[in-house]
Amino acid sequence: MKTSESIVDIDRKYIWHPFTQERTAPPPLHVASAQGATLRLADGREILDMACSWWVNVHGHSHPKIAAALARQAATLEHVIFAGFTHEPAARLAEAIVNALPRPLSRVFYSDNGSTAVEVALKMAWQYWRNQGDTRRRLFFALEGGYHGDTFGAMAVGRSSGYYAPFEELLCEVRHLPFAPTWMGDEGCEEREARALAGIDALLDAHGHEAAAFLAEPLVQGASGMNMCRPQFLRAVVERMQARDIPVIFDEVMTGFGRTGTLFALEQAGVVPDLLCLSKGITGGFLPLAATVASQRIYDAFLGEDFHSAFAHGHSFTANPLGCAAGVASFALFEEEGTLERIGRINAANRNWLAEVARLPGVTRPRALGSIAAVTLGGDTSDYHAGVGAAVKAKCFERGLLIRPMGNVVYLMPPACIDPQDLRRAQDGLTAVLRETAPLYAF
Ligand SMILES: Cc1ncc(COP(=O)(O)O)c(C=O)c1O
Repeated sequence: MKTSESIVDIDRKYIWHPFTQERTAPPPLHVASAQGATLRLADGREILDMACSWWVNVHGHSHPKIAAALARQAATLEHVIFAGFTHEPAARLAEAIVNALPRPLSRVFYSDNGSTAVEVALKMAWQYWRNQGDTRRRLFFALEGGYHGDTFGAMAVGRSSGYYAPFEELLCEVRHLPFAPTWMGDEGCEEREARALAGIDALLDAHGHEAAAFLAEPLVQGASGMNMCRPQFLRAVVERMQARDIPVIFDEVMTGFGRTGTLFALEQAGVVPDLLCLSKGITGGFLPLAATVASQRIYDAFLGEDFHSAFAHGHSFTANPLGCAAGVASFALFEEEGTLERIGRINAANRNWLAEVARLPGVTRPRALGSIAAVTLGGDTSDYHAGVGAAVKAKCFERGLLIRPMGNVVYLMPPACIDPQDLRRAQDGLTAVLRETAPLYAF
């Protein structure tokens, strides 16, 4: 190995990065360490992580209590096959998750990441019907704009998010139901919801009897642009599904673990799904781990005397003890550090900031929930790589802020530990950048 090469040189030679056009992307930034809300680059620069590192971080980077729990676990049991074996971190984390959820959600199935949590839920719903001899349930319902991950089932239900054109012909059948977004000061919301619900009723009449499940990101559609809906809209959709006995899957991969101000978004929606997908924040953002939580009715449909009705799905690292130990430690921090209260304070500060920033030309649809604050720049577009987003990102970076716009949607999502002054600095920095970039979107 040549020691004169920098880490970035070595990276450029051997690595293929996610969601990146490798030919045109600038060299990646070498992060040497991270603490709290701050990333430290190898060249000494400090950057505030206002995107929670792809929405995984909860309490802050390198939290000493999670780090200590991991070190203890690594020295005790790093991993063991999870078919026919169990261990304390998996049992304790499942217990904590189920105790934090409403019944009938009661059984935790572990996997590795958000996409697999969704894949597991889709497969469970599909087989749930087949275990009862019903093969007419051959499609899924999902909300327009939803994003659920990059494996095949997740791509199919998320195809309207616009990321998967090359794979279109490989994806299973999904009917996308209209979504009704809303924002602060929105006056057309009720009418939009009524139109969406009428569309959903028509699709239910036509295809309800064929649906294996309905899947939604509750309250916030993350990757399609932090689009938020009112709890009553989500509730009305879910009640329609449940009235027709269509299992409901909530994808809380992004919204789970405090992101929306409650531990889970379903608490605000006031409805209980049959399957719940969790990942990202489950370990506080330390390690890849996921859980699909099933209701008793789904679980019971897989019980039988032989393997035919069992759920034939598993991953090598299912219920990895390190991930589970991080999860248990992260759960404890919610109490110890008043994480939800911290998120409540971030939300209040964000709402004040949004009221100011929404007065800037071309800044529309201010919206906030939990620790998320978002605005849309100019009109509607779903182009992930829209030039305005890239310009905002670059200018924010010059001000020491990691902000990752999605097309023309710009959002802040800091870890719960962020200092009020740092939050203010990020908000002011973004306001200044929006003023500078206004010619790109405010016509
Ligand atoms: C709502 C939602 N579901 C699923 C996923 C996929 O998770 P992962 O990237 O861990 O596979 C994501 C990722 O952003 C997500 O936001």
